[in-house]
Formats: sequence, structure tokens, C-alpha cells
Amino acid sequence: MPGQRRRAVGEPTPEDVPAEPPFLDLGQLEDDARAHLPADVFDYYAGGAESETTLAEAPEAWRSWRLRPRVLRGITSVPLSTDLLGTAVGSPIGVAPWAYQGMAHPDGELATARGAAAAGALMTVSTSATHTLEEVAAASAGSSAWFQLYRLHSTAHTEDLARRAGNAGYRALVLTVDLPLLGRRRRDLRSDFALPAGLRMANHPADGARPSLQDLATATWTFDDIARFGRLSGLPVVVKGVLRGDDAVRCVRAGAAAVWVSTHGGRQVDPAVASAHALPEVVDAVGGDVEVYADGGIRSGSDVLTALALGARAVFVGRPTIWGLTAGGADGVARVLDGFGEELAHTMALCGVDDVRSVPRDTVVPAR
Ligand SMILES: Cc1cc2nc3c(=O)[nH]c(=O)nc-3n(C[C@H](O)[C@H](O)[C@H](O)COP(=O)(O)O)c2cc1C
Repeated sequence: MPGQRRRAVGEPTPEDVPAEPPFLDLGQLEDDARAHLPADVFDYYAGGAESETTLAEAPEAWRSWRLRPRVLRGITSVPLSTDLLGTAVGSPIGVAPWAYQGMAHPDGELATARGAAAAGALMTVSTSATHTLEEVAAASAGSSAWFQLYRLHSTAHTEDLARRAGNAGYRALVLTVDLPLLGRRRRDLRSDFALPAGLRMANHPADGARPSLQDLATATWTFDDIARFGRLSGLPVVVKGVLRGDDAVRCVRAGAAAVWVSTHGGRQVDPAVASAHALPEVVDAVGGDVEVYADGGIRSGSDVLTALALGARAVFVGRPTIWGLTAGGADGVARVLDGFGEELAHTMALCGVDDVRSVPRDTVVPAR
């Protein structure tokens, strides 16, 4: 499978296969997904909350930084492998947890797991997956994955999912803390969006009902849950959805092994501070003690390099992998992740930096 993913540059294209540009063209992938998916499904994936200001600003915020290349360093190739919470991974670019992958492709999360494994990337599996967390762990084929947990109405069910994640071999538990209520996503309210018939939230008890997004409106996590769910699962806990230094400090004091800076892809608070602007504050507060990750609007290798320079240990991508899964299943996901990796390695070599674990902070400067 990996060998078939990419044609060499200049190799003839068979007439029946549309030509793929020899670089990662996320705009084209998104257009293809829009053409392929029902309008309400595309809008569910693409949309954000309220005025979608956070959503629109996220990619721009990464580009409000500029790179300061170092010259004459003799660097022409850059290894991307690193480790996250002690687990070796092939690159610092992982798959963010996103819900309902069965709407994008019949194999849903299983295909994403295979694609991430082929690219050597870490996948974070959503609570709201359309396959069970055990099925997705099996599809990851020995490569590492993390499980993302929402605080559900039922405490017993939430605890059960944490224990199951530990038993299934996940390497970390990601508590998503930015969803005490579901954000007001106007596109979904307009379309009265619900999971299509035939798909179900596989990690939830099968009660025969078609769950709607409102069923996900959760009970709230507390700081005490960080240590408690770490004990229940036997896993290090990552807190996802932190945008302030003071909150990050409290999470770490409460036992968090890592903090993940995120606006939930612009789907919750709007307008919220962009991850690219919150990251330096969080890194200053806790970066010396724990790993810090970031997501939201990361669309190129240079965005990744900017995040690493600002102190992120890794980044995660959401929508680019949605469009990749929609277009090409596991291969599509792997192509997207490989494309990001190639761009990152290329940009790092051009900038004279060769270690993804320690990109100097002065590699970036605010754009003027
Ligand atoms: C369609 C969709 C569904 C999502 N579902 C979840 C989820 O189930 N759990 C979670 O923690 N975050 C979820 N997120 C947020 C992502 O994990 C991530 O923070 C965000 O997508 C990153 O921004 P990007 O899409 O611009 O890369 C979702 C995002 C999208 C777009």
C-alpha cells in the first residue's frame, strides 16, 4: 500500500486517473470533498461556531509569524522522527480527533488508522467514532494511538471508556475540556444536522436511538478528573482545549502529562484567541514541565515549523485529514500526512534547523 500512494514526479499519468499535483494541494482536496459529500455533511466538517471568526483566523494567525532562516549550516535533509510522552512516532504531525468519520468514507476511523500508521503518524481517536475504540486500536496495527474522551452524561459510561482505552493499548488519554456545552454551529442548526441513518456512535451504548449532536452536550470535567481518569485508565492524561497560561498551570498541578492548545477547530468559543497566539503564553507557563501541543488551522509545513519554534512538541491536523479520507480513504490520509512531513522537512532544511525536538524560538518573528 505505501508504495502505491504516490507517483514519482514526471511519471506518466494513466488517462483514467486525474493528475495529482506533486505537492500537497489542500484547497483542491477540500473542493473535491465538497463535490463528493452531501452539503450538510460537508458543512458539519467544514463549519465553525457563531460568526466563524475563530475558524477564519486560525490559518492566518500562523502566518502572522515569519521564519528567520539560518544559512551555511550544511543541512540538506531532516529526520522527522520524535517521541511524544515517551512513545516513538515518525513525525511531529498527528491526526486530531474528529467525530463521525464513517460519513467521509465507509471504513471511517479504520481507514484513518491505517493511513496514519502508513505515514508513521500518531492518531487521536474521538469518543464520537463510528467504530469502537477496540476496532480502531486493532486497525492501528501496532502503531501508537491516543484516545480522546468527552465527559458524558453518564459518569459510569465515561469511566468505562477510560478503562477500555487503557485495556485496548492506547498510549494516552486526551480529555477534551472545551466542550462543557456544544458550540452554536449555525450551519448545523440551519440544516438540523444529525448522524445519517446507518451510522452510530459506536462507543456509546446501543439504545437504538439516532444520536443527535445535542446528545453530546456533556457534563463538565473538573481539575480533579485529570488525576482520577489517569488512575482509571492507567494512561498519561493530555488536556485538550487549553488557551491560557494560568489554566495550563492548574492542569499540570492537577496531574496533566501534557497540554494541548486548541480552539476545537473554531467550533466552540467564537471569537476565541487563535492557537498561534495562545501557544507562546502556554509554553511560557508550563513548557519547561510538560509537553505542549497545538492544533487549529495548520495547513502547511511552515505552519508546523512555526508551532515547533513557538514551543509545541507536536501539532495535530483535523480538516486536512477529513478531506484526505473523503478523497482517498487510508491512502488519502497517508498522502496528506506525508505531504505535511515533506513540506516540514523541506522548510526546516531551508531554514537551517535539523531537530524537530528543539527548534530555536528565534526561528520565528512576528510579521511586520
Ligand atoms: C468535524 C470535526 C469534528 C471534531 N470532533 C472532535 C471530537 O470528537 N473531539 C475533539 O476533541 N475534537 C474534535 N474536533 C476538533 C479537532 O480535534 C481539532 O481540534 C481541530 O479540528 C483542529 O483544527 P483544524 O481542523 O483546523 O486542523 C473536531 C473537529 C472537526 C472539524
